[in-house]
Amino acid sequence: MPGFADRLNGIGISASAAMTDKASALKAEGMKIISLSSGEPDFPTPEHVVDAAIAAARAGDTKYPPQDGKPALKKAVQAKFQRENNLDYALNEILVANGAKQIIYDAMMATINPGDEVVLPTPSWISYADIARLAGASIVPVPCPAEGGFRLSAAALEAAITPKTKWLVLNFPGNPTGACCPRADMEAIAAVLMKHPQVWIMTDDIYEHLIYDGFTFCTIAEVEPRLKDRVLTVNGVSKAYAMTGWRVGYCGGPRALIAAMCKCCFKIPHMCCRKIPQHGYGDQPL
Ligand SMILES: Cc1ncc(COP(=O)(O)O)c(C=O)c1O
Repeated sequence: MPGFADRLNGIGISASAAMTDKASALKAEGMKIISLSSGEPDFPTPEHVVDAAIAAARAGDTKYPPQDGKPALKKAVQAKFQRENNLDYALNEILVANGAKQIIYDAMMATINPGDEVVLPTPSWISYADIARLAGASIVPVPCPAEGGFRLSAAALEAAITPKTKWLVLNFPGNPTGACCPRADMEAIAAVLMKHPQVWIMTDDIYEHLIYDGFTFCTIAEVEPRLKDRVLTVNGVSKAYAMTGWRVGYCGGPRALIAAMCKCCFKIPHMCCRKIPQHGYGDQPL
């Protein structure tokens, strides 16, 4: 048999995908299973979203969209960043892709060179390390222990950053721990990052809306605007709107990074993207 790429060495089958398969198999055998594997909301995609997609398809909205996403969807993303995160992104600072996962992949493929390091607060979502390794980076884990509420301390972050650090990945609320980052902690993290201009900062805000007990979400580009030209703010509709299978993710970031990512994203954003924002998700427009 012809061989496989060396770059796959050390990259296993996703543990969460394997758990999902196992849970499905046990369910099929009739067992009562509550699967805590993939981050899958337990409610269906809102009906008006499904209706809008069907109407869009029937209206012929089934052709290739622009590489960076349909203009109407990008405008909806721009409005979302302004409304919910107090972040101003120009349209050429926004990219839509097939899920946040693809955004993360594109970002790492567009930036990582051999020898680069990715600083990863852990425990973390399994795909960050796999994608970073696939792109050629080494992982530098920053332990965020249970005793500290799985929060990232500024001191631990400072100790992990080296001249080779290319990315820091932030994910609050985080998978798998659910840890959130209070604004004071984010300010301390930002103060560390101000000292290290070689570091790109990826904030995966996909669980932004899954917060409880009156906690107020914040995101780093808003907390420290002087970092904004090094921050990629990643989000998507999978978790907040129960649209995991639709594969719509988006990000805001500096124009040069978005342009570089566009060179990596061989994808077709979902065909219904143009219509959905006009109808909105849930009670709010996207
Ligand atoms: C932290 C985190 N980011 C991103 C994703 C994937 O998001 P998307 O469905 O938009 O690719 C997941 C999915 O489990 C996740 O847990």
